Amino acid sequence: MANREDQSSHKPATQIVTGGRRKEWTEAVVNPPVWRASTHLYDSVADLRAGIGNNEDGRFFYGRRGSPTQWSLAEALTEMEPGAVGTMLYPSGVAAIACAMLAILKPGDEILLTDSSYDPSRNYADAFLKPMGITARYYDPLIGADIGALLTDKTKAILLESPGSLTFEVQDIPAICAMAKEARIVTFLDNTWATSRFFPALEHGVDISIVAATKYIVGHSDVMMGAATTHERYWTRLRRTAQQLGQVVSPDDAYLAARGLRTLEVRLKQHEQSALTVAHWLKDRPEVGQVLHPALAGCPGHDIWKRDFKGSSGLFSFELSQGDEKSRAAFIDALTLFGIGYSWGGFESLALPVDPGKYRTATDWMMTGALVRLHIGLEDPDDLIADLAKAFEHYNSVL
Ligand SMILES: Cc1ncc(COP(=O)(O)O)c(C=O)c1O
Repeated sequence: MANREDQSSHKPATQIVTGGRRKEWTEAVVNPPVWRASTHLYDSVADLRAGIGNNEDGRFFYGRRGSPTQWSLAEALTEMEPGAVGTMLYPSGVAAIACAMLAILKPGDEILLTDSSYDPSRNYADAFLKPMGITARYYDPLIGADIGALLTDKTKAILLESPGSLTFEVQDIPAICAMAKEARIVTFLDNTWATSRFFPALEHGVDISIVAATKYIVGHSDVMMGAATTHERYWTRLRRTAQQLGQVVSPDDAYLAARGLRTLEVRLKQHEQSALTVAHWLKDRPEVGQVLHPALAGCPGHDIWKRDFKGSSGLFSFELSQGDEKSRAAFIDALTLFGIGYSWGGFESLALPVDPGKYRTATDWMMTGALVRLHIGLEDPDDLIADLAKAFEHYNSVL
């Protein structure tokens, strides 16, 4: 790990493995150890004073500013995102979204959010930002460059989420970001589904790329974490606000997240392949209406996905062509290999009933069938398909 300057010339799989593993942090081992520390002991008062004036990451200051365990993970995420200068880590994906927005917005401002936003992002805007005098308006995820017509003098930020994590519309991010840039509006992207591996966000015009690291970065369903990565222009503000809000992740969690990260390349590729196998199988089932998977024709924004993305991950939804809440529950309950639970991005498969119509305000949700969201894990897809086939048998028996 001697020549860190060379890292940017490497291919993504290499960067995922080598990122952030500076010699001064790893010393004689492969992984930067867990530095559990609140207090850092200085050699002298002069040394302490020097620390105050110079508290950039990569130098000990105080536990809230992290240690090599957290700095190494943050640096790895920065190295994976072309155009980025830094990454802040947060104790959850929602904390990353909330703190990144607070770094940019002030009373009197307005933020536009895609109508496909993750529900807690909407809730944060409506229930927390609004009482602070920051208004939130929602827009059609498929709006593209027409977003220009919605921008006013008050609009200071736009939240994108592509694809939406329930409904999977792929947004025209370059078109939206170009309009935003012209008007000096900051763009945030919830890039949890693709990660920088499948969608290098800053290269496509995004200012601040956010992931719920809880999902694919950690990859093992055992840690909550969020990350926001940005370029030169917003880095100082993002970092300062996170520090003012006391955001810090534990070194133990950072260690686990970094351990997960090192296998991201192989995991994502397997999630991609298995999810495509299952999605194609579902598409031909008589019980299934539409399959909402960005890599399948018919998914809103599929052509944009083909143009902009380098791959697809393991999360998608499908519509049951008949039946109601009860038969959907019977289908999900009959699955044995799919857990029923929130979150996704771990090694295991999950199934969830989802009702996007409940959250929409700017667009109508037109699909009439009950929707099921699947996360396809790392089990053999043949077994997952057999499990789904059995659950369809049960579903047909209760219709
Ligand atoms: C798309 C998306 N963004 C953000 C989050 C929030 O992440 P966390 O659960 O780590 O707060 C989630 C969690 O499910 C999500 O699905």
